[in-house]
Amino acid sequence: MDKSARYLELIPEVASLVDGEPDLIANLANITAALRDCLPIASWVGFYVRRGDELVLGPFQGKVACVRIALGRGVCGTAAADKRTLVVPDVDAFPGHIACDAGSRSEIVVPIVVAGQVVAVLDVDSYQPAAFDEIDAAGLGRLAELVATLAW
Ligand code: SME
Repeated sequence: MDKSARYLELIPEVASLVDGEPDLIANLANITAALRDCLPIASWVGFYVRRGDELVLGPFQGKVACVRIALGRGVCGTAAADKRTLVVPDVDAFPGHIACDAGSRSEIVVPIVVAGQVVAVLDVDSYQPAAFDEIDAAGLGRLAELVATLAW
């Protein structure tokens, strides 16, 4: 199954996972697990939640990661500050990239926007260079819209 088809399946799967469950942490945790299954190329999948001028580590799947990232710093902080999706094919070429795992080669970060405000970002990393493209940006963008409907 190609990547677009996998995202098409993921969205209803996640919708039914969170249906009727009001707990944000439980829902975010299950979403990271579903996403990691959907994206075998990912080495790390997780949320950073906005707390004032910082992003703080939320539910994730993968290795231990940096806990706090200032808005505007690294890929996550830049995506949050600019309120836009960042696809980074080569993390070493991104000024200020924060290397939580030295093996990480590429990354995509999608903001979660509620009522015009960034409440979190979804970060997906890979050990493969250029692992993510416009298909991921579109698929994860749809997922981010669904995540934005949770109890933030
Ligand atoms: N690389 C990210 C930091 C988060 S970890 O990769 C899990 C960044 O530059 O924002």
